[in-house]
Amino acid sequence: MGRAFVYVILGGGVAAGYAAVEFARRGVAHGELCIISEETVAPYERPALSKGYLLPEAPARLPSFHTCVGANDERLTPKWYKEHGIELVLGTRVKSADVRRKTLITATGETISYKILIIATGARALKLEEFGVRGSDAENVCYLRNLADANRLVAVMQACTGGNAVVIGGGYIGMECAAALATNRIKVTMIFPEAHCMARMFTPKIAEFYENYYKSKGVKFIKGNVLTSFENDSEGKVKAVILKDGTHLLADMVVVGIGIRPNTGLFEGQLHLEKGGIKVNGRMQTSNTSVYAVGDVAAFPVKLFGNEVRRLEHVDSARKTARHAVAAIMTPKTTGDLDYLPFFYSRVFTLSWQFYGDNVGNVIHYGDFNSGRFGAYWTYKGVIVGAFLEGGSREDYEAIAKAVRFKAAVKDTHELESAGLEFALRA
Ligand code: FDA
Ligand code: NAD
Repeated sequence: MGRAFVYVILGGGVAAGYAAVEFARRGVAHGELCIISEETVAPYERPALSKGYLLPEAPARLPSFHTCVGANDERLTPKWYKEHGIELVLGTRVKSADVRRKTLITATGETISYKILIIATGARALKLEEFGVRGSDAENVCYLRNLADANRLVAVMQACTGGNAVVIGGGYIGMECAAALATNRIKVTMIFPEAHCMARMFTPKIAEFYENYYKSKGVKFIKGNVLTSFENDSEGKVKAVILKDGTHLLADMVVVGIGIRPNTGLFEGQLHLEKGGIKVNGRMQTSNTSVYAVGDVAAFPVKLFGNEVRRLEHVDSARKTARHAVAAIMTPKTTGDLDYLPFFYSRVFTLSWQFYGDNVGNVIHYGDFNSGRFGAYWTYKGVIVGAFLEGGSREDYEAIAKAVRFKAAVKDTHELESAGLEFALRA
């Protein structure tokens, strides 16, 4: 027993929503396309979960942030899928896949077959247990990957007003959740192993600005340290965290953001993998011609970086790789290789930054780090390869993106430093 579709999208996150809108625009017939998702809701803009969803007042709630509102496009509610004849198979985990037979088997035993499969399974949050720490299943320890996690985090947070939160990890989740917790009047201590926050992206100078800003909001930092164990109360709730150097910190709640693992498991041994993800070509096609992969799970060649294969864990990449895969499937003759400009951003408190390109080579900071109008360029072999800007306008961000996209030539780094943002605006 089973169902058959021409196109199946496996996973119902950001990439699935953008693939669906693209299929609809290109004219998919009713009953040809299905989306299978472990989540119980239609695709939504995942970034909202660590921002608007955690606001103390007028928080964002579905259906307001279904895809594709994040790209100022149509909002795809369950009704939209129905009207377009796109089957949403929700609350359903696929437990095995056979790419030779072109079948998927769900946890309830149903076989779903396809002619073309798009893998959009995203990633899962790494657990502390994977680093040898036990007890992160306690009810006041939160991870944040999906809506269920966000609902739990909101409930724990609301029960903790005025209390102490410990945030483990100094990456995106750590930074955005720490800001949200502080905004909810919770005392926050952040702990991470590196010398400064956002170590994969920020320079020490950029990190210093954000850490100082967070400190002005009451957030404390413990750097170069990791958690080794939890101390629990008689009900099993965490009441303190113990660090490697023996420090004891009282905690009414804990938020953990220590990275992710792409969900490749169903396809290991069947498709080529690279950089921890499923390897695809510039048309998002895997080593099996009937199977495409997009979003967090896909490792694809970035033309701008000389076709170096990258796996980008960010929403813009999920949206654009998804749209490109559908273009390659529906109009193969006119669709070439994706020419993607890597784009990252975050919004915390009243701050907001964007970064384009790659943070390699020589870094040149500019602007005023006291007033919060600053940025940085990364140069390599005499051209701009990366650009960061805090607090820019739309025009400013477009200008830095363009400087990276067109590899603006840098003759003199001192001139670049003194021109600052003007360099990009003039380029
Ligand atoms: P995504 O994780 O969105 O979706 C994967 C889907 O597959 C899920 O619905 C999952 O349940 C499903 N699935 C997996 N295995 C399955 C199986 N076996 N059977 C059925 N279903 C299965 N990025 C950014 O650039 N700016 C930002 O501000 C943020 N903010 C942000 C906040 C938070 C809280 C998170 C967790 C992440 C971000 N991101 C971000 C990252 C961004 O959200 C991420 O890159 C995209 O969601 C990736 O989209 P995908 O569709 O690839 O995976
Ligand atoms: P991350 O990779 O950004 O940061 C992981 C952090 O975990 C590291 O910075 C490090 O400080 C810490 N860490 C690693 N091992 C540790 C250990 N053993 N003990 C303590 N700390 C440890 O990952 P994340 O913050 O968990 O984010 C998860 C995913 O969500 C990423 O793909 C990220 O891109 C995405 N996300 C993106 C945004 C955004 O782009 N604005 C916002 C939220 C989430």
